[in-house]
Amino acid sequence: MGPGDVDASGRQRPPLVERALAAAAEAGFADSCSDGTGRLLRVLARRCARAGEIGTGCGVGSAWILAGLAPGGSLVTIERDESLVARVRRVLADQPAVRVRRGDWRRLLDEPPFDLLFADVSDARDHGEDVLRAVAPGGLVVLDDLAPHGDTDSEPVRAYWLSHPDVAVAEVAVSPAEAVMVAARLP
Ligand SMILES: C[S@@+](CC[C@H](N)C(=O)[O-])C[C@H]1O[C@@H](n2cnc3c(N)ncnc32)[C@H](O)[C@@H]1O
Repeated sequence: MGPGDVDASGRQRPPLVERALAAAAEAGFADSCSDGTGRLLRVLARRCARAGEIGTGCGVGSAWILAGLAPGGSLVTIERDESLVARVRRVLADQPAVRVRRGDWRRLLDEPPFDLLFADVSDARDHGEDVLRAVAPGGLVVLDDLAPHGDTDSEPVRAYWLSHPDVAVAEVAVSPAEAVMVAARLP
């Protein structure tokens, strides 16, 4: 790894994540997931056969998931912006485990049920029932960018998942500024 492959706290990032971050910087894309979320995704992906991502952006979240997938695992990610899709396909060209689809996130609901689904489009976050249907029993939904110690009034998405009878939820502080919600679909 080169000297650039570390985050602000000095921890190393996988080279593929560095590549995606460079693509995001080149594109002026500011909505990539944080290092904290990425590190959590990498851990959660480890036990997944099938991972999905709603909203590819420049491929940073994809790169973290790919860094965690066990051999034989796969990732499908979907993005509606054609130019981002083209960019990410170049960044991930040497990664046979990933398929980058172009289109509205709802198309991902046709795919087989996911063991891990990173829901990173606000419209999807507002349609929790649809997202949940795409997840296998025991599978996980991940929502990032929540306020740490946030309340359910200012973040309705939080209230939805916390009160849903079919999921078990944990909130993880991935940095002082960000919490991530992990919801497991109960069998
Ligand atoms: C927060 S960014 C994704 C960041 C990425 N998941 C990461 O971790 O680096 C959200 C992305 O979703 C895309 N998007 C917005 N609405 C969408 C939709 N209806 N269907 C698919 N993609 C959408 C945006 O173009 C944007 O690239």
